[in-house]
Amino acid sequence: MSEKLLIIDNLHVSVENKPILKGVSLSVEKGKVHAIMGPNGSGKSTLSHVLMGNSKFQTTQGHIFYEGKDIAALKTHQRAQAGIFLGFQYPTAIPGVTVANFLRTALKAIRGEVAAVKGFRKLLTEKMASLQMGPEFATRYVNEGFSGGEKKRLEILQMAVLCPKLSVLDETDSGLDIDALKVIAEGINRLRGPDNAIVLITHYQRILNYVKPDFVHVFMDGRIVRSGGPELAHELEAKGYDWLDKNLAGEAAAR
Ligand SMILES: Nc1ncnc2c1ncn2[C@@H]1O[C@H](COP(=O)(O)OP(=O)(O)O)[C@@H](O)[C@H]1O
Ligand SMILES: [Mg+2]
Repeated sequence: MSEKLLIIDNLHVSVENKPILKGVSLSVEKGKVHAIMGPNGSGKSTLSHVLMGNSKFQTTQGHIFYEGKDIAALKTHQRAQAGIFLGFQYPTAIPGVTVANFLRTALKAIRGEVAAVKGFRKLLTEKMASLQMGPEFATRYVNEGFSGGEKKRLEILQMAVLCPKLSVLDETDSGLDIDALKVIAEGINRLRGPDNAIVLITHYQRILNYVKPDFVHVFMDGRIVRSGGPELAHELEAKGYDWLDKNLAGEAAAR
């Protein structure tokens, strides 16, 4: 039996007393990629923020277990130190902080030790090259004046430098042209391994042609309404979310 890295059990979450997640259950094993697909507003980003411990969101019911422990009491930085990473749908700019400094500080915060300048520079140059980011990126301020594609590359660069055990990538594919998408997908694939897992949140099936998921889950109105293999993503792409919605309504009526 493969080891469970993450177990989400009947999770209910509200924002400002408005229920958003309405009973999400999901198990993620080490070595697996789980895709979460769903229409806009279904709660995908909310799930990612809750996993990272964003205090804006209140868990009203249910649990999140990571490496067998309930992480409700862990703050965001403690979750990061434990190996959880979130690639944001909308990364924010940090004026005055260079990419190199940002990543070195993040590495220190997570590992608890300062990376030697020379070794870190080598690591960064290597990872940036693999994501087709020119060396000038290291000296630019985080996300300031970055294009959509550059912002997403930086999210994957962070992931490549930090080597998280659980990566939650929220619409890392959105707004990318096909070449940028392939670079991002290769970056993600390089980080796949038997000891880590990826939750890939996406609105579109397209990225799943390049990052092959082991499982696909469909999110609607704060719940996972269907789970399956990669074929489920193709079916959704061909027929649309409305098709599934009608199907579910039919199934409910038949019960
Ligand atoms: N900070 C917030 N305040 C109020 N409502 C929010 C907030 N964040 C998300 N929501 C609401 O939660 C629902 C789900 O949003 P979100 O998780 O961003 O969905 P998705 O990522 O699937 O598009 C939406 O109706 C959205 O308006
Ligand atoms: Mg979202």
